[in-house]
Amino acid sequence: GRVPVTSEEHFAPSNIALCKYWGKRDTQLNLPVNASLSVSLGYLGSHTRLVPIDYSADEIWLNGDRLLPSAAFSQRISAFLDLFRAPGQCHFRVTTRNSIPTAAGLASSASGFAALALAVNDSFQLGLNTEQLSVLARLGSGSACRSVFKGFVEWQMGQREDGLDSHGVVLPETWPGLCVGLIKVDASVKSTDSRSGMKRTVETAHLYQSWPLQAAADLQQLRRAITVGDFTLLGQTAEHNALSMHATMIASWPPLVYWQPESLACMQKIWRLRQEGLPVYFTMDAGPNLKLLFERDQLEELMRHFPDMEVIQPFGDD
Ligand code: PMV
Repeated sequence: GRVPVTSEEHFAPSNIALCKYWGKRDTQLNLPVNASLSVSLGYLGSHTRLVPIDYSADEIWLNGDRLLPSAAFSQRISAFLDLFRAPGQCHFRVTTRNSIPTAAGLASSASGFAALALAVNDSFQLGLNTEQLSVLARLGSGSACRSVFKGFVEWQMGQREDGLDSHGVVLPETWPGLCVGLIKVDASVKSTDSRSGMKRTVETAHLYQSWPLQAAADLQQLRRAITVGDFTLLGQTAEHNALSMHATMIASWPPLVYWQPESLACMQKIWRLRQEGLPVYFTMDAGPNLKLLFERDQLEELMRHFPDMEVIQPFGDD
């Protein structure tokens, strides 16, 4: 292979799935059971740079702190870099800066591996196109394949065994008034990571059998909602999809319950607000935090109800 050089600093946005990726058909290659669809979070994400170094191991820095080589995140990054270098060929200083507020309770693996894939492409001068970069990012973390793009992104599951057709594709539509509100319920709880959570669900939840059908139907509805700009359809479908995913998690054994009491209290508050006529929906991932979906017109009203909420406008120009 080529001799790697110092890369530029590369940025990739975080993303929130409206139709979730849950379950792998290939655990080595992170090939999904179902297609998924997300919206990227604008300026919130990861900035990553690679510097080749003369040491005998990689040096991983996250937000200004050096991580222990034994940390799970360091090992995942080194394993990813191993895909591109000959054994013992070289090591890197990897510096990642997340603009995701730690208080937001968002996972950073999607933006982290997408930014790393961009930096690897630069450092090894691979000259890959965005689809190929998305395939690479997917090898680091499934949802990272959607973080190579801005806006609405569909992860096409693909057919091939080598996974070369399993990558993100950007949708042409934008939605200028769309808002995502991040509500941190409790980021201190250590939840089961998505890799082992998916494995457990696929292996033990009979309910999981119905998931691929539900996800396929939801994806169709979301595409339609985005094409015609139907916010109710978008919100309903996203919330229903997230709750269906959580149903398969809860139906696993041992049970996989990512919710905290405050998560449910927050859901009930949203259902109440909706009954009172406020168009707001939520989605949740493999953790206790909620992500609200609403339109710009409702921002002030929602800030009154959730004063600590961090708001992102995925299609805003900030
Ligand atoms: O990319 P992973 O392995 O961290 O999985 C992400 C899984 C969910 O966040 C729960 C859903 C999704 O599509 O992002």
